[in-house]
Amino acid sequence: MCGIIGYVGEQQAADVIVDGLRRLEYRGYDSAGVAVVNGGIHLRRAVGKLRNLAKSLATEPIEGSLGIGHTRWATHGRPTEPNAHPHVVGRVAVVHNGIIENHLALKAELQAAGHVFASETDTEIFSHLIDRALSQGCTLEEAVRAATAEVEGAYAIAVLDVEQRDRVVVAKQQSPLILGVGQGETFCASDIPAILSHTRDVVFLEDGDMAVLTREGFEISRFETGESIERPVTRVQWSAVAAEKGGYKHFMLKEIHEQSRAITDTIRGRVSLEQGDVFIEELGLSADDLRSMRRIIIIACGTSWHAGLVGKHYIEQATRIPVEVDLASEFRYRDPIVDERTLILAISQSGETADTLAALKEAQRRGARAAAVVNVIGSSIARTASNVLYTHAGPEIGVASTKAFTTQMTALYLIAVRFGRLLGTLDADRARVLLRALVEVPGEVSRAIELNAGIREVAHRFQHVTSALYLGRGLLHPIALEGALKLKEISYIHAEGYAAGEMKHGPIALIDEHTPTVIAAPRGPSFDKTCSNLQEIAARHGPVIVVGDEGDEQLESLADALLPVPKTTPWTAPLVTVIPMQLLAYHLADLKGTDIDQPRNLAKSVTVE
Ligand code: M6R
Repeated sequence: MCGIIGYVGEQQAADVIVDGLRRLEYRGYDSAGVAVVNGGIHLRRAVGKLRNLAKSLATEPIEGSLGIGHTRWATHGRPTEPNAHPHVVGRVAVVHNGIIENHLALKAELQAAGHVFASETDTEIFSHLIDRALSQGCTLEEAVRAATAEVEGAYAIAVLDVEQRDRVVVAKQQSPLILGVGQGETFCASDIPAILSHTRDVVFLEDGDMAVLTREGFEISRFETGESIERPVTRVQWSAVAAEKGGYKHFMLKEIHEQSRAITDTIRGRVSLEQGDVFIEELGLSADDLRSMRRIIIIACGTSWHAGLVGKHYIEQATRIPVEVDLASEFRYRDPIVDERTLILAISQSGETADTLAALKEAQRRGARAAAVVNVIGSSIARTASNVLYTHAGPEIGVASTKAFTTQMTALYLIAVRFGRLLGTLDADRARVLLRALVEVPGEVSRAIELNAGIREVAHRFQHVTSALYLGRGLLHPIALEGALKLKEISYIHAEGYAAGEMKHGPIALIDEHTPTVIAAPRGPSFDKTCSNLQEIAARHGPVIVVGDEGDEQLESLADALLPVPKTTPWTAPLVTVIPMQLLAYHLADLKGTDIDQPRNLAKSVTVE
């Protein structure tokens, strides 16, 4: 995880860097640091949130227009000041995102040669290797290249040399890194929002790339061969404002409210109600391609995995092709049965999740055709998959995923209809019905948010609970899992999501008057069965919070609290039913005063395994 940034230009580098780190803080926030070259290397680091570093810099500013910065999520070594980046050794300062796998062997070798280490980090290896090469007469570029030849693992690094004061040198291997191209200034960063307030022109580096950044621009080469290489400059359409809180108390709340827009953008230009079809040529699959597939495997982690579980229902119903949904972290370690007749669908908001990326590559190695549903344009998963369908959620900053989830489900809905139409398993009339329901969803999501304006009162009543159960059936089972995940990750309240039908097989033992159950029960095919669960819980004095149809008197009479949603269809119910669950988790966390956008121990992009 971690976020890195580098700057060379005319502005005060420390200001640009701290501003960028603020937008990267979602990647890690246990310490931060900055190094600026001005005469010598000026280093400032602070443990804890970025505000501690910002405060220190405000009290005692560092001047200079060439610098690098880092926000850390500890992998090697505790979150202490000596372990915070940048790591300065001799002439060089280095920031790093990733993990050096052979760091123990390299450290032993360097120590035997007399190098003294000041931190417990793997990153410091880079500083020693680069400084050693510089002292042997290499240029900074050559020294970075020499270091990459020795290091194994994942890294995005940015490096300064006190004697070459016009440049930052960067290298990328399996960790994200982009360049930003401005007027008389050049940036590097782990993610686009870090530089959006300065430029929207970005270059996505590939694994094996290194680059020299100067005020005038950048030069990219392959670090193994030294060969120069061109990479295109892409204009990113996200505006800087999209990555701001916009008056909301938290990014998460803002992002919950953005879902109607995000779903609209994901559907926009892709649906024809007239033809009862979907246009997603970017997935690059023909009817023959699909007919040759024996099965589809969805791979993802966390919330994206929950979206995959919903997608399984959609795709199986529309195509009758069997769909498996695998946790990416499990997939590649179980010798999966995958061949050229397997279609892999990787789902990821960030496009950088290490497990999903590795599983995708493993499936490709075994001959599978691989497509991806991704939010971040140009991210590693987007570039690795043969074809990508982008969700248009815009930047998601809150660590707890919300709009990425609903847009992923929307994308999978579109894929299911498209595949069904291609295969002929879905006729135009049925597709029209499904698509009409889908285009109603943005309005229904807005209505669900309006209807739950009073949800904070419900949160007040339950704010002291220490454990909760979430239940749902069929398409709503993944929504129960997602509701439980949202609650635990931001409020730290223990929560379990279960298929409602499984309740009697164990979880019912947890029910007592202190353990509320949140049940997804809009009217639909399994409504009566879910109502029976509800009565069984009430009979055991368990408080019941029901997410159900607006105005459903039967539910109102049975539940301790009804979180209403507008009436919708079975396929669109997951998209609408999740809204009150997101809001409930948000308000419970806010009442507890937790750090909602940056919950403890978590990071937005899990770029380590
Ligand atoms: O960026 P990705 O969608 O690949 O991320 C996967 C998970 O790390 C992510 O969904 C995580 O579970 C979120 N914190 C959930 O809110």
